[in-house]
Amino acid sequence: MSIAAATILRLFREAGSGFVSGELVSRELRVSRTAVWKHINGLRAAGYKIEAVPSRGYHLISSPDILSTEEVRERLHTARIGRYLLCRTETASTNADAFQLAEEGAEEGTVVIADSQSGGKGRRGRVWSSPPGVNLYCSVVLRPVIMPHAAPQLTFLSAVAVARAIECTTALKPEIKWPNDVLINGRKVAGLLNEMSAETDGINFVILGIGVNLNMAQAQFPADLRTPATSLLLEQGLPVNRALFAATMLGELDRLYDGFLACGFGPVRDEWQQRCNAAGRAVVVSEGGTDTDHGMFCGIDGDGALLVRSSDGVVKRILSGDVRVI
Ligand code: BTN
Repeated sequence: MSIAAATILRLFREAGSGFVSGELVSRELRVSRTAVWKHINGLRAAGYKIEAVPSRGYHLISSPDILSTEEVRERLHTARIGRYLLCRTETASTNADAFQLAEEGAEEGTVVIADSQSGGKGRRGRVWSSPPGVNLYCSVVLRPVIMPHAAPQLTFLSAVAVARAIECTTALKPEIKWPNDVLINGRKVAGLLNEMSAETDGINFVILGIGVNLNMAQAQFPADLRTPATSLLLEQGLPVNRALFAATMLGELDRLYDGFLACGFGPVRDEWQQRCNAAGRAVVVSEGGTDTDHGMFCGIDGDGALLVRSSDGVVKRILSGDVRVI
């Protein structure tokens, strides 16, 4: 977005629901009234509905559902997460972008968002389907002073942030499935991919990769999905404003991360366990299609391992595999 367009949007924001005079815009941008008109038309072409009323000026009626820096920043009220915010129209992977920025020294809280990804990465080398105009693809740089084995704690934290954001922006009831899928009515609505750069005795940085299916239509899902997937649109029958969702989710992440730095993993673990689809239930763990363990869900360990108590009372740590609630 051009600086002129961003300035006009700022003036609209400052005017609340009121009018912004052409004279004010022309003074701020130091351009003629004809040039102001051209910039207004540029915004209209981008989807902003703007009325022009003689002798009163311009009035913003509605904004398009775009994930621009301006649209997200306007709704973001955080101290740390999103202090530096980069919104791209298209990229290969926001995780790869954030990783590179972090290697170049990007500060903690740097966020990369993209409208679409040509090489969206999922867990275990899978592809994360990332069509334009519908979803949220977002990566956050964190630099916590923790040991590498504790890094999975941050993925649990992002799962809780996504679940809270869904509750804030919809009437839906999200659940979390170990290790870190967010589900609605048993279908996956969000996936998280945590990547890190570390030495044996500490972390250089962690990238929290967050993909949330917001307004994806049924026909846009790949046919060969391993797990049943859904979007907020499909579940509630209404679209979600993506910039609002992004800002809400980053706000929750900011609060949770502050708490994590101050009080450790405990509060995040408690909330994750309450939100887990297996809370208080019996589960079956399978690996490569074969059932390997049965037992009662007992929560998660500090390194992200799933704890399952078998009928002989032994609590087993599960590090990988698929977990079904029975
Ligand atoms: C999973 O397999 O469940 C994890 C999916 C993670 C996808 C997100 S989208 C934003 C970020 N960039 C990526 O390339 N992947 C993550």
